[in-house]
Amino acid sequence: MLFSGKFRWLWLYLLFGQLMISHVRTAWPPSNSSNVQVLGMFEYLTNTTASSVSSIQCRAMFISAILLSQQYNMTIQGQNISWQAVETGGDPMTALADTCQAVSISNIVGVIGPGLSRESAVIAPFASRVGIPAISYAATDPALSDGNAYPDFYRTIPTDSTAVLAMAQLFIRFNWTSCTIIYQNDEYGTGGAQAINEIFDANNLTVSEAIVFDTATLAIHGDLKSLLTSSAARIIILWADLDYAPLVIQKALDLDLLGPVFTWILSVAVSLDSFNSTSYTKLSGMITVEPVPGSVVNAPINTTLLNAAYSIWEQYEPQTFPGADKVDYYAIFAFDATWSLIQGLNQLCSSYPNISSTCTTFTGDSFCFDCRFVNSDMFINILDNTSFLGVSGPIQFSNTSTDRINGTYYIARNIQHSSSSLNYVPVLVWSNSDGWTTNTQTNVIIWPGNSLVVPTGYAAISGLTLDIIVVDSAPYIMTSVIQDSSGETTTKLIGYIIDLLDKLQTQMGFIPNITYFPSDASYDDLIESVANGTFDLFIGDVTITAARREIVDFSSSIFDNALRVIVRDAASVKLDLWSYLKPFSVKLWITLLGATIYAGILMCILEREGNEALQNRSIISLIGMSMWFSFGGVMGAGADFGATTAPGRVLNAGLSILSLILVAAYTANLASDLTVLKTVGFISGINDIKNGKVPPSRVGIITGTSIEDYYLREVSGRSLNFYPLISTDEMIEALLDKKIDASIMDSGTLEYLTNSMFCNLTLVGTTFDQSSFGIVFQKNWLYDQDFDIAILTLRESGTFDTLQKKWFQTNGCSQSSEIGTAMSIDSMAGLFMTFAVISAVAILYFMWRKRTAIKDRFLALIHRKKSPDSQVIVLSQTGSDISSENPSRRRSTIYPVLYL
Ligand SMILES: *[C@@H]1O[C@H](CO)[C@@H](O)[C@H](O)[C@H]1NC(C)=O
Ligand SMILES: *[C@@H]1O[C@H](CO)[C@@H](O)[C@H](O)[C@H]1NC(C)=O
Ligand SMILES: *[C@@H]1O[C@H](CO)[C@@H](O)[C@H](O)[C@H]1NC(C)=O
Ligand SMILES: *[C@@H]1O[C@H](CO)[C@@H](O)[C@H](O)[C@H]1NC(C)=O
Ligand SMILES: *[C@@H]1O[C@H](CO)[C@@H](O)[C@H](O)[C@H]1NC(C)=O
Ligand SMILES: *[C@@H]1O[C@H](CO)[C@@H](O)[C@H](O)[C@H]1NC(C)=O
Ligand SMILES: *[C@@H]1O[C@H](CO)[C@@H](O)[C@H](O)[C@H]1NC(C)=O
Ligand SMILES: *[C@@H]1O[C@H](CO)[C@@H](O)[C@H](O)[C@H]1NC(C)=O
Repeated sequence: MLFSGKFRWLWLYLLFGQLMISHVRTAWPPSNSSNVQVLGMFEYLTNTTASSVSSIQCRAMFISAILLSQQYNMTIQGQNISWQAVETGGDPMTALADTCQAVSISNIVGVIGPGLSRESAVIAPFASRVGIPAISYAATDPALSDGNAYPDFYRTIPTDSTAVLAMAQLFIRFNWTSCTIIYQNDEYGTGGAQAINEIFDANNLTVSEAIVFDTATLAIHGDLKSLLTSSAARIIILWADLDYAPLVIQKALDLDLLGPVFTWILSVAVSLDSFNSTSYTKLSGMITVEPVPGSVVNAPINTTLLNAAYSIWEQYEPQTFPGADKVDYYAIFAFDATWSLIQGLNQLCSSYPNISSTCTTFTGDSFCFDCRFVNSDMFINILDNTSFLGVSGPIQFSNTSTDRINGTYYIARNIQHSSSSLNYVPVLVWSNSDGWTTNTQTNVIIWPGNSLVVPTGYAAISGLTLDIIVVDSAPYIMTSVIQDSSGETTTKLIGYIIDLLDKLQTQMGFIPNITYFPSDASYDDLIESVANGTFDLFIGDVTITAARREIVDFSSSIFDNALRVIVRDAASVKLDLWSYLKPFSVKLWITLLGATIYAGILMCILEREGNEALQNRSIISLIGMSMWFSFGGVMGAGADFGATTAPGRVLNAGLSILSLILVAAYTANLASDLTVLKTVGFISGINDIKNGKVPPSRVGIITGTSIEDYYLREVSGRSLNFYPLISTDEMIEALLDKKIDASIMDSGTLEYLTNSMFCNLTLVGTTFDQSSFGIVFQKNWLYDQDFDIAILTLRESGTFDTLQKKWFQTNGCSQSSEIGTAMSIDSMAGLFMTFAVISAVAILYFMWRKRTAIKDRFLALIHRKKSPDSQVIVLSQTGSDISSENPSRRRSTIYPVLYL
């Protein structure tokens, strides 16, 4: 039952196979039933797929070679060589079944083909088993090169190892260093990908990504777009055959992964007719690297043979003959494969001139796997040593390798767009002796994007928009409100980092899209948002730490940082000879002196007449006395003096108020200065914090920073005992408000703050925990190298030093440093105004009391002008106790008063 079922299947199969063979025999003369038959294997002979045109031409050249041998009277023991052709459909099992069937029913002395590597991988061992040679014209998998594994296999097409070597040399020629491979997952594709990996590695070229095209599902494994764009390489090698390459290219076209961003290198010349003409600009610029016969590179070939073959082809199948210069290269290799076999066969049988029909006999069963070619070893030996000039160049094999040892040539063709059509333009040619040389006729390469400039081959950052995070942190990043001519205010970012970003942008050409965060943003959270791809970059005072490096990458250092300790400034009240002057500012002291002199003069005027202590004195003594009274009043010392006139008493009251307040203020301020002095030097650096000279709760640390990590690690032994802060601003505030006594912060920031803004805060001790700030990017980011190169260039050009000078070495504190804790004039202005008002009241009072005298004096003045020789008018006395004995003296002292 089982046997009969199997048998029926075999019978049906044989019938079907016969039908198929007869189907492809149409145009050519019927092959007579010779005892010497050669089997040709072709992928598609029915005109349905992209590769069928190539297959049909290969078959034509195969048959032409057989017919040519007949024309040349190359008979094998009196018999013509005849042929069979089968269509395998690209399926190794069909190829095997066809071969098995042909061997079973005909006297097949050799196989031409199969066309595909995956078929050859099955047919080559089968040929070895039967003992007949198989010579392929198109199987290029490097794995098939091993002469020991495949002793009966040969090929006239060069192995892909050579193609890859040529490609690697193309990369070196154009200074490309890395590529992405897309390959189909059969012997051809994997063999090619493996060769690329090995040979590129040997040439110091990188394969950054290998992407698989599945020939079963006709789909790419993974997301093509993200795979290609996430890799730095911008050169794509597509290792797929004529049937699959157009599918991949169409997919890439749909996803916009061709020119001008990506440069594609193809291993076959795909038909360009299948693409929509709207996509021609994107397709142009691709390069193909194809094996070619010697004629293309002007290497010697046997043109006699070639022309003879073409004329036979034209004679029998003119509808498939494309013209002598358009014949598919594989067809030419197919001719040489056939011709090698014919030559070998001829040579084999010429060794048996007398014994009829022994050189082509088989032994054993008719079942294909059990029969064997009798003279197998001799035949193979002959082929190993065969050498002739074929139509593709010199043909020569060896016993160690299945590859031809001479006559391997490649051509690089460039897809160019001209007048609404796409063409393959040969630009470079390769031979194993000369490497790549420019093609003699056409050699201008038009790269993707219609450019004549060779692409760099890697992802360029230029023109790319980068989402960048910055965080307010003076002086790295600060906001500055500027007002333009129309009065509109805009907030602008300034600072060290912004300047640096500008320089990087100029150098690299990216477009920054800056997102600004206030100073209380957590650095660790922001780093996380770069790690997860929300932002591209985080640039600022971000310390490079091991923990952060685990989740993100850093650029090389953009600022060399260290930590310092900041405390309230005690240095400005240092004890010296003049410490007693410190409680009041210089202006206040001068004002006070002025007020004393003013009060003294006023006192002299007001009291001059009524006060005994001021009478009978010279003018110097009078002034000295008045000053003494005034000084005593201001100091509250109460110099043995009592005002006797009412205006004098008012002035004295004013002086007392001045004295009361000033003495109290001076005393209080001096006391506070002395208290501060006592605490000077209570902490001199980080070691004092470590040693507990400051209670931990008085040490402020900004949380979520590398400083917190440092504190926990080095100071507190992982105990969260510090005073938590959220920003630098809060730290400054807490220090000034005496909520904390010390804090730790980046030295750059602190130097800036203490130098230019907070002059009463100071840094103590030396720097510690040296570190670097770096730009944060995602791990394995495409452009990290670009940034490193740009940063190094800036460093070498001295830009960093310039920026550092600009932002860190300003000093806005030098003039105002003496202010310190001294009491300023501003805080005492009210007191002096009060005194001024009181003194004015005293003057007015005095003048009111002297009003009659003033009036008389005034009238006398007028009168004197009218009668210049009139007598001196004696002023009437208003003062109660003033003696009138000496009017002349009285007069002389009154004048100054009136003329004051
Ligand atoms: C077969 O190919 C030829 C040339 O390539 C073309 O002109 C013809 O239309 C094709 N026939 C079919 C049935 O596809
Ligand atoms: C082949 O043989 C035929 C008949 O024997 C003869 O006419 C022809 O010239 C020969 N051709 C060559 C190339 O020797
Ligand atoms: C490749 O680099 C070399 C040396 O840097 C340079 O001389 C040459 O012009 C470059 N070639 C191309 C195609 O860019
Ligand atoms: C590859 O790089 C290594 C080390 O840099 C060097 O020794 C070797 O010569 C390079 N090989 C080629 C082919 O450039
Ligand atoms: C080519 O593409 C254009 C626009 O995408 C479309 O309108 C047109 O139908 C396409 N032509 C073909 C033959 O697919
Ligand atoms: C070309 O091939 C023919 C036939 O094998 C041979 O007679 C001829 O000498 C060859 N020409 C060259 C240049 O090798
Ligand atoms: C390859 O062929 C060329 C041209 O026939 C010849 O000059 C060269 O010596 C050959 N090379 C080898 C390795 O046989
Ligand atoms: C800039 O960044 C913001 C925040 O990430 C984003 O919403 C915006 O779309 C970006 N703008 C551009 C032009 O990329």
